[in-house]
Amino acid sequence: MAWCSTLLPVVILFCLLPVMTRGATRPQFKICSYKVQKFNMAKASNSRLMHSLTRLLARYDITVLHDVMDPAVIKPLLAALNRETDRYDDFTYKSVSSKSLGNSPDSMQQYVFIYRTQTVNVSGQFQYDKKQEFVRNPFAVEFQSNKIAIKKFVLVAFHAEPKQAIQEMNRLYDVFLAVSKKFDNKNVMFIGDFHAGCAYMTKKDKKKIKLFTNTSFSWMIGDKMDTTASEETNCPYDRIVVHGQPFLKGIVPLSSEVVNIARDFKLTMSKVRDLSSHLPLQISLRGSGLLLKASPLLILFSVSAIIQSFLSAV
Ligand SMILES: *[C@@H]1O[C@H](CO)[C@@H](O)[C@H](O)[C@H]1NC(C)=O
Ligand SMILES: *[C@@H]1O[C@H](CO)[C@@H](O)[C@H](O)[C@H]1NC(C)=O
Repeated sequence: MAWCSTLLPVVILFCLLPVMTRGATRPQFKICSYKVQKFNMAKASNSRLMHSLTRLLARYDITVLHDVMDPAVIKPLLAALNRETDRYDDFTYKSVSSKSLGNSPDSMQQYVFIYRTQTVNVSGQFQYDKKQEFVRNPFAVEFQSNKIAIKKFVLVAFHAEPKQAIQEMNRLYDVFLAVSKKFDNKNVMFIGDFHAGCAYMTKKDKKKIKLFTNTSFSWMIGDKMDTTASEETNCPYDRIVVHGQPFLKGIVPLSSEVVNIARDFKLTMSKVRDLSSHLPLQISLRGSGLLLKASPLLILFSVSAIIQSFLSAV
């Protein structure tokens, strides 16, 4: 009997250990980037497409949408997201949009950031504005959150013009200088459709892009990845680029990936392509230190509880 009472707490601890450690290492904060091709009211009024899109967005703390052609789509999207999340969790979502960008009236588009109000605050925004340098100037939003290790970072949405993708990618270095100065923050992440692959960017072209030649920048989506929703193409068009070691340390290792929405939401590839010819990207930031430190403390408490119960048993 004495055996049993001393063993029991040990068994309990071993059962709890995975739960406690998982809680400590679980990715805390997820970011998504998705080019919903030509996102207009026709798409927004297709309830099946909107259902898939809201299910996707409900998984992330921040989603950056590219190629939003009609500003009117955001209202029903947020309404659906805030309604649907009632069923899954308690998050509410808001948005920040750039102005409409482009060089012809029928191809104007916005970058739209959708974020959870409970886990992150918007602390600033900045529209880069050099018309001769970009067809769609990058748009930066600074976020602040006490839930993540890095606390404050800047996300820069970017959709390259295919014909001048190399030049535009190279100019992102100037955007970095402007953005980091504007916010006094070097934790900068570029995210979006760079057209950084296949015919638009060859291996040789990489030498002409400062974000590649300067080792301060880390490319989180590799050259061999496929961000297209087509079986015929295998191109890493969409990318995530992070500046600096401090920011890199704030990212969960190996968390950057292309999201397999066909598998995750049981969609046929043709349904996936109804949304976009591109696939979403995701990356996770580390949670704030509080949780990480809580875990060893919990273990200590458990161990002392075991010793106590052992002593009272003998
Ligand atoms: C957002 O800002 C408010 C007001 O400063 C603060 O109380 C809250 O903790 C912040 N939320 C996060 C997730 O950092
Ligand atoms: C690379 O970028 C960093 C910005 O963190 C800058 O300080 C440094 O001078 C750049 N290096 C070169 C070789 O341009």
